[in-house]
Amino acid sequence: MAGNWKMYKTAQQTASFFEQFIPSVNGFNDCDLVIFPVSVNIPTAIQAAQGTSIRIGGQNLFWANEGAYTGEVSGEMLRAVGATWVLIGHSERRQYFHETNGEVLKKGQAAIAAELTPIICIGERLEEHKAGKTREVLIGQFAGGIAGLTEEQFAKVVIAYEPVWAIGTGQTATPQIASEAHALIRTEAEKRFGKAAEQLRILYGGSVKPDNIEGLMKESEIDGVLVGGASLDPRSFAQIVKAARVNRD
Ligand code: 13P
Repeated sequence: MAGNWKMYKTAQQTASFFEQFIPSVNGFNDCDLVIFPVSVNIPTAIQAAQGTSIRIGGQNLFWANEGAYTGEVSGEMLRAVGATWVLIGHSERRQYFHETNGEVLKKGQAAIAAELTPIICIGERLEEHKAGKTREVLIGQFAGGIAGLTEEQFAKVVIAYEPVWAIGTGQTATPQIASEAHALIRTEAEKRFGKAAEQLRILYGGSVKPDNIEGLMKESEIDGVLVGGASLDPRSFAQIVKAARVNRD
């Protein structure tokens, strides 16, 4: 269960989220629970989550360890402050920062080298969805951004299916649409990576809310969720996290 905070919350708001959130998920250790705050607030989040099962990740990284890359942060630097996860290739990075599949691959390799668990995001845009191109887009993103990993690297990766038309729109993919996309991704992974794909976890992301989480988590293809807006509120994110546990019992 993962919360992507995007560009929201100051350091103070970050600390105050954890104050409210931690008591409501006290004792939760059914699955990985990760929050991705704004990069400058990662140390605040790590300190606030100390002693709990909540892990903290970066929303992006650069593939070099260091160098003249103004504005960038490396995997090694994220790891050094205590982050253990990282998001890669989110559709907003692809859309506004023109990230390509080739860059996604390099970032995935860098994340693993830095001992961060990458959540590599793929998903089709609205016009591609309407044109019936979902399959083609997912296969292309997988081939360009993920298939170039080694089997050993791939075994450490989590994939998030985030249809762009469902992000921040309130229009969630139905459990069936999400499930079909996940099955397709799993098949591609098995074709390329064989045994290394057996344990692959695929998260769904796009307008996940407390009132639709149960339907999504009932699908055996959906291993978890990557939540944007609803993860900003401690009560709604706690409800989402708990609903997942109920459905897995
Ligand atoms: P929303 O849950 O706000 O639609 O965002 C989804 C997302 O982009 C998570 O990475």
